[in-house]
Amino acid sequence: PRQIIIDTDPGQDDAVAILLALASPELEVLGITAVAGNVPLALTQKNARIVCELAGRSDMAVYAGCDAPLVRKLVTAEHVHGKTGLDGPQLADPVMPLQAEHAVDYIIDTLRSAPSGTITLCPLGPLTNIAQAFRKAPDIIERVQEIVLMGGAYFEVGNITPAAEFNIYVDPEAAAEVFLAGVPLVVMPLDVTHKALTTQARVDAFRAMGTRVGDMVAEWTNFFERFDKEKYGSEGAPLHDPCVIAYLLQPELFTGRHVNVVVETGSELTLGMTVADWWRVTDRAPNAMFMGDLDADGFFALLTDRLARL
Ligand code: BDR
Ligand code: CA
Repeated sequence: PRQIIIDTDPGQDDAVAILLALASPELEVLGITAVAGNVPLALTQKNARIVCELAGRSDMAVYAGCDAPLVRKLVTAEHVHGKTGLDGPQLADPVMPLQAEHAVDYIIDTLRSAPSGTITLCPLGPLTNIAQAFRKAPDIIERVQEIVLMGGAYFEVGNITPAAEFNIYVDPEAAAEVFLAGVPLVVMPLDVTHKALTTQARVDAFRAMGTRVGDMVAEWTNFFERFDKEKYGSEGAPLHDPCVIAYLLQPELFTGRHVNVVVETGSELTLGMTVADWWRVTDRAPNAMFMGDLDADGFFALLTDRLARL
């Protein structure tokens, strides 16, 4: 199986992404690293453990990482995810332990001890942990097989400001460094994730599994949907982060372009904007596979099939 580290700030959609990964035999989740994002770190590391326990994987190693962006104050998203970050169903506090090692050191040690080019990083939140690891141990950069991340936007532009997507906006300096690091990069921007929309029929399919996981995912989705439904009158909510894991399982569900992407860190107005050279109007070298489209029915078929195995 392909070896991955999931770096995450759960988040209902992060939770579904973690479940999808744990349900998939093609992937070996080596560890889960938590970062501050949707809610503060104390909650994201706890939420990551709640999700592992729900999947029956209390043996999974969960590490806490950075509690604030590299240089800015943390911006959170309780308006979308609720006070706990995982609002919806009532879930008991996790019993499984948090690992003692810092997430940044775990990422460094794991990349150094594995054969080069065998570990994929899957960031689902702000890129603080990844940028810190690259700063602290530049030798690991060339050892990363690939980074597949959720973040950014092109045609769909922003969801936290008119110009920026949340994960990139929260730590634009970290994102800028990771995009320039030279690691092969696959990006799932809002252009893709806004097509991974829940509908009543898709949520019903989670419920119809008749499992605890199916019920929890349906309840998380119901909570998460209310923001988009009330604010935008849309039919459902975008399952952003599971797109990263779905790509590792079925890349043919996605189409995009290999282009140059740079992150804005200077302008207040467009802070965190992912400036993608979609039409190749510059001579800046391509650094990212920037996805633009998704087979949504195929995505939900995969997700439902896998979650039903838990
Ligand atoms: C991203 O921001 C978070 O709210 C979600 O978990 C996702 O990772 C979408 O912009
Ligand atoms: Ca997330």
